[in-house]
Amino acid sequence: DRASAEGGFRVRKTLLPAWLECPQMESSESPPMANPALSAKEAAGREASKFVENGQVVGLGTGTTIESFLVAIAERIEKEDLDIRGVPTSKATAERAEELGIPLSSLDQDPVLDLAVDGADEVDGAFRLIKGGGGALLREKIVANSAQKVIIVIGEGKRVETLGLTFMLPVEVIPFGNQ
Ligand code: A5P
Repeated sequence: DRASAEGGFRVRKTLLPAWLECPQMESSESPPMANPALSAKEAAGREASKFVENGQVVGLGTGTTIESFLVAIAERIEKEDLDIRGVPTSKATAERAEELGIPLSSLDQDPVLDLAVDGADEVDGAFRLIKGGGGALLREKIVANSAQKVIIVIGEGKRVETLGLTFMLPVEVIPFGNQ
């Protein structure tokens, strides 16, 4: 992992094994993992779940890619008796995690997270991201900034040369302080 401060927001950069071992993911529609029934983003979400270790507190991102991560984590909780707590970045993720039986925590209870796993809308060659298309930008940033390590999981089509040409930059406006 490399770490750098960008725009005051500390981001750690990780390439998942799926990308390292399967560069064809960038240009191919074919799922890269053993199970050909999985899409690339499902495979990447599952791969990310392998980075979670017993006893960790994990930031749970938002979006369809993270769905696969949540399902895989729930399977590990069941099969391996994995003892983890998740801090969700959105109401939708909190509800899904509860459905799947993933124990939840909060930043009040666990202000420092071992790991946060989230998706992205676009990623450029310098690992800069557009995030927030799912409407959870502020919470995602706070959760990521509270984590010692951040893994961004993307499927095909999210890697771009220049950010913002095909995906509009989300801006989140919150009611706090608007008077
Ligand atoms: C949520 O606000 C976003 O940052 C998501 O992480 C992003 O939109 C990725 O979503 P998908 O995994 O559904 O593409």
